[in-house]
Amino acid sequence: MAPFLDHVDDEETTSNKSRVTVIGSGNWGSVAAKLIASNTLKLPSFHEEVKMWVFEETLPSGEKLSAVVNETNENVKYLPGIKLGKNVVADPDLEHAVRDSDMLVFVTPHQFMEGICKTIVGKIRKDAQAISLVKGMEVKKDGPCMVSAIISEKLGINCCVLMGANIANEIAEEKFSEATVGYRENKKTAEKWVQLFNTPFFSVSPVQDVEGVELCGTLKNVVAIAAGFVDGLEMGNNTKAAIMRIGLIEMKAFSKLLFGSVKDNTFFESCGVADLITTCLGGRNRKCAEAFVKNDGKKSFDELEAEMLQGQKLQGVLTAKEVYEVLSDRGWLELFPLFATVHEICVGRLPPTAIVKNIVHTSPAPFIMELCSTPPNEAIM
Ligand SMILES: NC(=O)c1ccc[n+]([C@@H]2O[C@H](COP(=O)([O-])OP(=O)(O)OC[C@H]3O[C@@H](n4cnc5c(N)ncnc54)[C@H](O)[C@@H]3O)[C@@H](O)[C@H]2O)c1
Repeated sequence: MAPFLDHVDDEETTSNKSRVTVIGSGNWGSVAAKLIASNTLKLPSFHEEVKMWVFEETLPSGEKLSAVVNETNENVKYLPGIKLGKNVVADPDLEHAVRDSDMLVFVTPHQFMEGICKTIVGKIRKDAQAISLVKGMEVKKDGPCMVSAIISEKLGINCCVLMGANIANEIAEEKFSEATVGYRENKKTAEKWVQLFNTPFFSVSPVQDVEGVELCGTLKNVVAIAAGFVDGLEMGNNTKAAIMRIGLIEMKAFSKLLFGSVKDNTFFESCGVADLITTCLGGRNRKCAEAFVKNDGKKSFDELEAEMLQGQKLQGVLTAKEVYEVLSDRGWLELFPLFATVHEICVGRLPPTAIVKNIVHTSPAPFIMELCSTPPNEAIM
């Protein structure tokens, strides 16, 4: 067990302090815990200990991942070689991990969020606040539902989001990057989240646009798949830049069609253009899409995920499917050729070359271009 577990707090001095739990312990989850833990040691308004819920698994050595994290202070599977901070305590019991905390940081692949919320509903503090670092959305019968909305609806708590140009391994090595916190109304809460995450090498800014920030983080993974196809086809940087430009236009138009409140400036924050660039240059979605093309589509994305990502999850393919469902339900497929084509290629209905034929030679529809420059509240169809 980590020595920190033996530490007993003086109730009087700690009762007003916020307690933080990070729900998730993958690559980004572990880095988030490390960032937060470095700050809770310094900031008097936070309890020093940071709980990190670990989806328990048995390592090839036969040991439990959570026990190894607590013994070594390292997530040997998802973030090897990086110390998390002695005040990070791994807990495989989700209900126990969240019970006492008033600040809940959600950071798991989006497909697990419904199940996590079901497990902890009614078991969290009434004054809890949430932030979602999860990139993705759910498509339900009555339309798309962002992860922050699932958290708020299922748990009855306020939920901010944090997204940005944040390849986790680079932040783990303390290389400089920026991030954006999206908040709804309460700026004070947003500022508390900024305080919790901000470090000299991780610069966080708040914007009042939850959906805009979250959709940027979600949709850029679909564009990154397209960028990976272009890399697999060895089309070069100019073609990739074209894909990124058209992708950004589709991201903005799609976001504004879904939520009239989305702000234009959000796309210039770290969560927007900066995240799009980093994900299309590095990132696992680009990498696996490139491999998909190089293997002539003979290996499915599921196989490539298992082979190339060592337990990490690929979000872009699932998001492309979810976006396609929305486009098809609403009759928008022709308006968003890049998003639609990415899904068609992923499922084998189109060859990877369609990413160039269908997209690069077709300018975005005039309607989409117009939508991108329309004031937010006039954008709804
Ligand atoms: N890794 C990055 O660079 C990065 C950066 C920014 C945002 N994100 C986003 O953060 C979120 C989490 O990604 P990550 O990189 O921390 O995870 P990851 O892909 O590295 O790891 C997968 C995680 O899912 C867990 N898991 C597996 N099966 C599960 C189940 N049935 N229920 C619950 N959990 C299960 C695993 O234990 C592991 O912790 C994603 O939405 C991702 O898009 C990732």
